[in-house]
Amino acid sequence: MSQTTARARACANIALAKYWGKADERLNLTIVPSLSLTLDGLLTTTRVTFDSALTADEAELDGARLGGRPLARITALLGRVRELAKVTTHARVESTNDFPTASGLASSASGFAALAAASSAALGLGLSLAEQSSLARSASASAARSVFGGYVALPARAEAAEPVASGDVLPITMLVAVTAEGPKGTTSTDGMTHTQSTSPYFSACVEQAPKLYTESRRAIWAGDLEALGAAAEQSALMMHASMFAANPGLIYFAPATLRVIERVRALRRAGTLAYFTIDAGPHVKVLSRPQDAVRVEELLAQTEGVMRVIRSQPGPGVELSP
Ligand code: DP6
Repeated sequence: MSQTTARARACANIALAKYWGKADERLNLTIVPSLSLTLDGLLTTTRVTFDSALTADEAELDGARLGGRPLARITALLGRVRELAKVTTHARVESTNDFPTASGLASSASGFAALAAASSAALGLGLSLAEQSSLARSASASAARSVFGGYVALPARAEAAEPVASGDVLPITMLVAVTAEGPKGTTSTDGMTHTQSTSPYFSACVEQAPKLYTESRRAIWAGDLEALGAAAEQSALMMHASMFAANPGLIYFAPATLRVIERVRALRRAGTLAYFTIDAGPHVKVLSRPQDAVRVEELLAQTEGVMRVIRSQPGPGVELSP
């Protein structure tokens, strides 16, 4: 029996300019450019062990055995790694998240970035970060961005993400207002395919996305949180508007989602810079200046329906760990 193993850690990322829709479903290429911030507070650690005694790939997340589609996505990525290394050995994947899995907190991003790094390292492939990003993207497009730290871009139809700027260029504290525990009803992959094929607003989003992406990049380099926040809010609301208009409409919001949006707008009216973004789930991620974060966090935590608030700073890219 022979075994070879490696472990990697990756942080989740939150898109400020959102990706929603595919240019090529088979290759998993995105139809719009996206831009994100990698966050240190949302971490996945994954160990991959290729073991000649195994007769199939197996995977567990937070101690629970995976099957069905989640396992199939992992096996597909492992298959690509095996092809590159020219081996046929199956693998055991053990993964832990320090945040609620599949609840719109982008766990697939950190998960597939960690899986790409750990599995390729376990087989001694020595892939570049761009190659790891491409591998992660083939499983889940947002995962391509978690390979890098700080602000990261994934251009439309790109194979791999690319770093844009370190988190210090525009320091942000991201406050994640958690409004539900447990997995969400519709996965991002299904939600975007449904929106793309049924929503009359989808094409308008695709048309507008490059402008918001460019504005976001510019705002980061100008250190302009107001401009970045405005672009991020429009990108998120445009994406959700296109989902609302799908047939049947897709609504990820919970009542508390709207309450947090209102709280963020009230904060702004009172002179505190705070901006929201929302992914394929009911949680609200709030961008704030580090010096305002404690106060903003307190106010979010007092909002009805908010279960807890996770405070995050810009985080590093994927790292192998002992
Ligand atoms: C709303 O990357 O999860 O978080 O590529 O099908 O795995 P697949 O989708 P996924 O979608 C992410 C959607 C989003 C926006 C974003 O991260 O850009």
